Amino acid sequence: MVQVLDMPVGASRDWLERLVFHGIVFNMSWEDPEMDRQAFRLTPDDTVISISSAGCNPLNFLCQSPKRLITVDGNPAQNAIVELKLAALAALDHATFFDIFAARRPAVVLKVYRGQLRPLLSQRAREFWDKNLWMAARGLYNFGRMGLFCRILRRFLTLLGLQPRELDGFFELRSLAEQADWYHHYLAPRLWGPWARRFVMFKPLLYLSGVHPEQYRLVDGRHDMYEYVKERVEYALTKVPAYDNYFLSQAATGCFRGNRVPPYLLEENFETLRRNLGRVQVVNGWLGPFLDTQPAQSINKFNLLDIFDWMTPPMFEATLKSVLRAAAPGATLIYRSGSYGLDPPASIAAHVERHDELAQRLFARDRSATYGSFYVLTIKSHPNGRE
Ligand SMILES: C[S@@+](CC[C@H](N)C(=O)[O-])C[C@H]1O[C@@H](n2cnc3c(N)ncnc32)[C@H](O)[C@@H]1O
Repeated sequence: MVQVLDMPVGASRDWLERLVFHGIVFNMSWEDPEMDRQAFRLTPDDTVISISSAGCNPLNFLCQSPKRLITVDGNPAQNAIVELKLAALAALDHATFFDIFAARRPAVVLKVYRGQLRPLLSQRAREFWDKNLWMAARGLYNFGRMGLFCRILRRFLTLLGLQPRELDGFFELRSLAEQADWYHHYLAPRLWGPWARRFVMFKPLLYLSGVHPEQYRLVDGRHDMYEYVKERVEYALTKVPAYDNYFLSQAATGCFRGNRVPPYLLEENFETLRRNLGRVQVVNGWLGPFLDTQPAQSINKFNLLDIFDWMTPPMFEATLKSVLRAAAPGATLIYRSGSYGLDPPASIAAHVERHDELAQRLFARDRSATYGSFYVLTIKSHPNGRE
């Protein structure tokens, strides 16, 4: 059984965060794992820590056989998804695993839950899935806050006259020239306009899509949110190959296409994942306090998504100080931001080396259309002067 650690519940967060960000919010990790793979270049000696979200990217790392994988999330419902995926890897064959988590025939989870999956879950995850298994049985990607947002988005696209078969056809295009032609002649004239601006600027909808209130303040405070979303969507649809873009395919059409799925769902990775299950630790808790319990200089790779967009500047700095203490010499840290720029604070910048050329090269191929910037940093020194 996978190790699961429940950290003491820290200070409660503000009411809006508690209202929006409880239960399943992210039914899929919206960070492009190909960027992470090339930024990290994992080795079998590496200890990796990753924010869980829906567990897709922690499992994508596990496909690369690190020595140890720590997956941490402040929202236990997110880790309940991680635990269900890990239990399915341990107990099921690939076809059934794929049926459930690629939502090809998800209802099979009802047949295997009690006898094969539930015994492998922590008490907390059992309590969650005993009440919420219907979400997995009806296809996880339709549920959770993000699932509801994507269903509303697909309904909105239809109301704007965008036909589902046209959207399906887009994900079969094999050249950027065809994508740009389709975008400028078919999608853009129908999509962008006063209704799209009302849709994007309606805060509750963006909260539903996983944009944290602090993040909304950060992005809208610096860039008009509508123009930001328009720029990001246009970039992803005209400058990044669509054929294997499973992020936008899931959001705009509600399904993956054949084997165009996250790496952890591929049959070729199944036995490796199963072999590596003993290397995983699931942590219910916030990153900073957890890192402060870890031995100094013990972690090699940090995948922190856009958690810093959820933080005030003092929390941003404090969390990075915890990262520096727990980081092994030469450790790599990657993070994203909804804004076009979220540099590490000066007190941290002195201890890290930035790899902006690499970060920009990887970011240019980001399929998720979610972020405004991406950072690849290596730790070159520690505040306490130890190299
Ligand atoms: C940062 S969020 C956003 C993910 C991304 N924007 C997306 O669309 O998929 C991803 C996860 O981070 C978790 N999270 C945020 N701040 C955290 C922290 N300081 N420590 C641990 N988990 C955190 C949230 O609970 C959430 O499940």
